[in-house]
Amino acid sequence: MSITDQKKRVAEAALDYVQAGDIVGVGTGSTANCFIDALARIKGKLDGTVASSNASAERLRQHGIAVLDLSQVGTMPLYVDGADEATRNLHLIKGGGGALTREKIVAHACEKFVCIADQSKLVDRLGAFPLPVEVIPMAQSPVSREMVKLGGQPELRHDFTTDNGNIIVDVRNLEIANPVELERTINQVPGVVTVGLFALRAADVLLLGSETGVEVLTWFEDGTGHSHFR
Ligand code: A5P
Repeated sequence: MSITDQKKRVAEAALDYVQAGDIVGVGTGSTANCFIDALARIKGKLDGTVASSNASAERLRQHGIAVLDLSQVGTMPLYVDGADEATRNLHLIKGGGGALTREKIVAHACEKFVCIADQSKLVDRLGAFPLPVEVIPMAQSPVSREMVKLGGQPELRHDFTTDNGNIIVDVRNLEIANPVELERTINQVPGVVTVGLFALRAADVLLLGSETGVEVLTWFEDGTGHSHFR
């Protein structure tokens, strides 16, 4: 099964988590786009969505799906989004599309984060994918120096401005042995808006596409994990 078909399959599987009357948080990227297209078929069931990027908001509206401001809604039941890398304990790297800050904001406003990804995104340890960091433009050099101190090789993402008017610095070769600690450390660097590590608020469910179907990985607060195929 192709990667595109795996993305479509996990996007379909995520529809099972949508309940009638929900306001759904919607992510960004090619896998999230498959979810938006799937969501269009059940749009009558929804009370609306909150989008994590201008691009996703536009795609939702093109399907006739209502897009609300985050400030108009309270806690939402569900957030669905893709990832650039995911581990079996549901830590993620996100931000390949540059939408990491709004993704993290919307994910934090939702009770359940269902991450949808094809098999190629599963890793034993995060960090082969360059870690995206959204940075206030004037802080590019000092933030980059801090990333070097952490052992990384920062590189400005050229010709790219985030929906928030900021830059992205992609950091290669970081040793991400402890994603929770590194997320805290990078987020504390002045000038950093957000780091693309999703470990403090990891996914609750990972729907992972494979050749044969969808693997469902869950992680519980008591530190135990569970996986089954559906
Ligand atoms: C967007 O900023 C990202 O966080 C995406 O969720 C991530 O890059 C996955 O994108 P794809 O689904 O296109 O691989």
